[in-house]
Amino acid sequence: MHSVLITIPMFDAVIERLRSHFEVETCGERAIETPDELAARLQGKAGMLVAGTPRVDAALLQACPDLRAVCSMAVGFNNIDLAACTARGVLFSNAPDVLTETTADFGFALMMATARRISESEHFLRAGQWTQWRYDLFAGADVHGATLGVLGMGRIGQAIARRGALGFGMPVLYHNRSRLDGAIETQLGARWVDKATLLRECDHLVIVVPYSAASHHLVGAADLALMKPTATLTNIARGGVVDDAALAQALRDRRIAAAGLDVFEGEPAVHPQLLSVRNVVLTPHIASASLPTRRAMAELAADNLIAALGRGPQAGRPPTALNPQVLAAR
Ligand code: DGY
Repeated sequence: MHSVLITIPMFDAVIERLRSHFEVETCGERAIETPDELAARLQGKAGMLVAGTPRVDAALLQACPDLRAVCSMAVGFNNIDLAACTARGVLFSNAPDVLTETTADFGFALMMATARRISESEHFLRAGQWTQWRYDLFAGADVHGATLGVLGMGRIGQAIARRGALGFGMPVLYHNRSRLDGAIETQLGARWVDKATLLRECDHLVIVVPYSAASHHLVGAADLALMKPTATLTNIARGGVVDDAALAQALRDRRIAAAGLDVFEGEPAVHPQLLSVRNVVLTPHIASASLPTRRAMAELAADNLIAALGRGPQAGRPPTALNPQVLAAR
């Protein structure tokens, strides 16, 4: 029987399902994140179930020669060196699709909370500072009818665009490396523009682009300077896509009106200047965190692990493998 390691706290039912196929080692209440602990606990393990951490690179794979499959319950996989996995014959799978609508709900909610200053006004109320109604008390920006800008138009970006166009009558601009099919653009009411035009013309920018070397600091000081002073920026992609120091400065200087951030460079640490400005809504990387969706993500990672190690009805055919060719070569 293969042994596998679950590196993150996990639903009991998913652990039990994996136990019907494998010897399972769990991490308890705290995720295993340091390379040394991970390498030590992976000795003799054929598979592991991870999320957006830890880093899986050539050095780790070399230190863990028994490893055959790494299955993530996250859709983003910037923590994984996919080429190194493929070179060592290690199957890797992520968890697309199951989180699209939940993540889009959250992106839209964060954008709305940012535009309508919901967190800032709640802090004010809780602090006992609300003494009378005023015409301009936490007056923010409208969402309905405002121009939505989507940076990164994959599955989640499209789901956000749909919410904006159909639910809130928002004209939608987007920028992506590749343009959507014309029929999809028409259906979403979305228009492709270059990045500078997107930044200049949108009222509410939502960032949903995957993190890679190419998207590192895709939005920095010069980009923020192009935005309207009344505009908001929402990042549900990954820390590192936005230059957090530059954003904190832009918020402090009121170069833009407000930001909503679910992801941070170096998280769970948060840039200290972001913690000290008031016009930002901060959440701890929870965009996909509805219970049914987190369960679906974990079950999909388990499906992949079971299949990748030759078990279950999909044996040899993990449903969302990103390098299935390694199985054919075994
Ligand atoms: C994802 O699935 O990529 C989410 O950001 C959780 O890491």
